[in-house]
Amino acid sequence: MDQQEVSAETLAAQGLGEADPFSGGLAPVINLSTNYEQEPDGSYRQGRVYTRADNPTSEHAERLLAALEGGALEDGCACALFGSGMAAATAVFQSLLPGDHVLVSRVLYWGVRKWLAEFALTWGLDVEFTDTSDLDAVAAAIRPGRTRLLWVETPANPMWEITDLAAACRLAHAAGVRVAVDNTVATPVLTRPFESGADLVVHSATKYLNGHGDVLAGAVLTARRDPFWERIRSWRRNAGAMPGPFEAWLLQRGMRTLFLRVHRASQTALEIATCFRGHPALSAVLYPGLPDHPGHEIAARQMHGGFGGMLSIRVAGGAGPARDVLAAVRVFKRATSLGGVESLIEHRRGSEGPSSPVPDDLLRLSIGIEAPADLIADLEAALEKGAPR
Ligand SMILES: Cc1ncc(COP(=O)(O)O)c(C=O)c1O
Repeated sequence: MDQQEVSAETLAAQGLGEADPFSGGLAPVINLSTNYEQEPDGSYRQGRVYTRADNPTSEHAERLLAALEGGALEDGCACALFGSGMAAATAVFQSLLPGDHVLVSRVLYWGVRKWLAEFALTWGLDVEFTDTSDLDAVAAAIRPGRTRLLWVETPANPMWEITDLAAACRLAHAAGVRVAVDNTVATPVLTRPFESGADLVVHSATKYLNGHGDVLAGAVLTARRDPFWERIRSWRRNAGAMPGPFEAWLLQRGMRTLFLRVHRASQTALEIATCFRGHPALSAVLYPGLPDHPGHEIAARQMHGGFGGMLSIRVAGGAGPARDVLAAVRVFKRATSLGGVESLIEHRRGSEGPSSPVPDDLLRLSIGIEAPADLIADLEAALEKGAPR
């Protein structure tokens, strides 16, 4: 199918619309082979040697994700799947050089923050956390000639702070700084960071892209196949960070329903946020779709068709009542992670551990695709039981 002709939504639904060349089957085959036959002259028919470097099932999912992110393959955009979102994120950091200065969103997924705190120093990286939702702070933190990467997560876990991607990219590029955006939460359905100038896009494909809570995977995409991209690909191949073909196959299947799931989760999240905003048992509802969220205006400009399926609530009275609410839910599932078909609730600080900067009264909600009324009734009942006024 000519990718220029149809929307990303159609490309997703049709899994790129390519029938298997051997069988004509519309569902792609899984290619499990770890190695590829060498010709008598030493060449490889398809250029593939070993699955740790290249695999046709992964390539199919990679081409689909690149198309969804709107990167034009003919302009050099490319995608590489990884064994997890963390493998993808750390591949970017590990492709930098000792002494490089890196600016990272102050509010971000704790796993990335923890990895940076534990390993960046031994890796020789000079990591600085900054409020990327404050452009003056970003401008002040950039060290011309030394800053090599600006890492932005938006909306950012678990406060859902919003960074203006176009403005941050303009600032960074003026100083020669590469910008990587963790687009896990917005997904290409709502935000396509390349269109704002991002150089790299990173995903935990474990979340919305797969969407069914049964695959661990990640991805890095580049706007250009430059030497830095070659280092990331080389890292994946030589460090062995490639996912298995079955995971890649499940991922492409999950992406076929991405638009439906993300739109539904976003609509329900907005409904829940609107319904519980001002609830007497809560001190705050954090959701970029609410007009009083500090990042709302930028989110309304930057996110198309919804504000995402993630929100947090802060329970009046602190950690005790918050844990009581958690214990009282019956429809929401108490579990970590996000972006699946079922709604999840989590005491985020409890998951992150004692060094977590997340307030103790905060519960993180990942909204799934269930009937919104069931979720609202469940939360209402849990708040009634858990947080007496
Ligand atoms: C925003 C974000 N980025 C990266 C990751 C890491 O992904 P994974 O768990 O697939 O390694 C997560 C996981 O929760 C995440 O929420």
